[in-house]
Amino acid sequence: MSKQPQKSGNNAIESRYDDYLMPIWKELDVPLRRGEGCTVEDFDGNEYLDVFSGISVTNAGHHNDAIVEAAKDQLDELLHSCSYVHPNEPAAKLGERIAEISPGNLQKSFFCNSGTEAIEGAIKLARKHTGSKEVIALEMGFHGRTLGSLALTGNKAYKKDMAPTINDVAHTAPPYAYRCQTCDGECTAACADDLERVIGTHTSGDLAAVVVEPVMGEAGIVVPPKEWLQAVAEITRDHGALLIADEVQTGYGRTGSMFASEQFDVEPDIMAQAKGIANGLPLGAFTAPAEIADSFESGDHLSTFGGNPVACAAALATIDELEGGLVDNAREQGEWLSTALWELEEEFDVVGDTRGLGLMHGVEMVDPSETGPMGEAPAPDATLAKHVSKHLREQGIVVGVGGYHGNVMRVQPPLAIEREQLERAVEGLRTAIEAEA
Ligand SMILES: Cc1ncc(COP(=O)(O)O)c(C=O)c1O
Repeated sequence: MSKQPQKSGNNAIESRYDDYLMPIWKELDVPLRRGEGCTVEDFDGNEYLDVFSGISVTNAGHHNDAIVEAAKDQLDELLHSCSYVHPNEPAAKLGERIAEISPGNLQKSFFCNSGTEAIEGAIKLARKHTGSKEVIALEMGFHGRTLGSLALTGNKAYKKDMAPTINDVAHTAPPYAYRCQTCDGECTAACADDLERVIGTHTSGDLAAVVVEPVMGEAGIVVPPKEWLQAVAEITRDHGALLIADEVQTGYGRTGSMFASEQFDVEPDIMAQAKGIANGLPLGAFTAPAEIADSFESGDHLSTFGGNPVACAAALATIDELEGGLVDNAREQGEWLSTALWELEEEFDVVGDTRGLGLMHGVEMVDPSETGPMGEAPAPDATLAKHVSKHLREQGIVVGVGGYHGNVMRVQPPLAIEREQLERAVEGLRTAIEAEA
């Protein structure tokens, strides 16, 4: 047998991925060996400023001492209990803590392991509580990759040939002001009238729930006007249905408040959470007021790993860290970031729109020589977005790329980011746009 040369560093990881992991994501990003605060390091010793947080997860920063210690202490005590058979203390305390920090009367939680499971469970609960079946979600919205949440996801790019045909799911227009097909670019409560139209035309009126992301993440950081979300909540309830807020990405401080719904003065009937909840340990949850949660009877739902004591202990420490100043920092830095990105929009005609809340911002790259496909806004330029992202990597900065058209730079750093680091990220963007446009 001929000897293969030994690979090392990043190459070794990537070639094992090629050989032994399913080819889900062909454009792999930098492999990560370790992280500290807002800095990550690869296997070749290169350091990067992390402005994406592993898709908006490490809100309290990489290797946050308090969270790591809490998880280690719990590992020494009890690693697993199956919390729906043998109650464990961290799950009990976390349920109480989530009730304290959640908007409105949200009180009782169910723990699972991911965002998609939180959505699936929330839908089951809404169906059980209302006795109705149909669910409406937003076009371009994203709710996960398992079959139920994939059916709700309003983007064919995620569905390909694998999404189920579920007659109980319909979609309504998103509040995407920059490319809105309902209004002239100033989405208002009136754009929410589309929900009435969809209920009237695509459902049989047997509506269990309407699911919305208060700020749409994968769609390209789409921030609705407050009145729009409030109007959606009102229409939903007028039809006897529940409003499910998918706070998987917006929750746990990301938008500058613990949950984004608070900033819209909307109290969801069920709230789905995951991502930042335990700063990277796998955990998801959905939470509802007692009168809704208590519709579940024993055996209606379960998860072997849900409520894992180590993940719950990490979540308790994460909430302490977030309340200890990180949410405030997200709000303050986010205000600065908003202005800094808006200046890029003024400076470059390839920057069509910038928008966001807290430390969840999007920069939409466009080709100003063309318009459409939706409305009169300049055409999305996904190729430019990719080039800008590559240029940023070369400068040692990791920024996400996403959006319905694949043309949105996603600025979602750990919430502990300092002004100097944020300035470096924005300057990096400026340099990359100058070089690539
Ligand atoms: C809003 C939203 N909901 C649900 C999900 C699915 O979460 P997970 O990947 O943990 O299943 C995501 C993931 O990006 C998300 O952004």
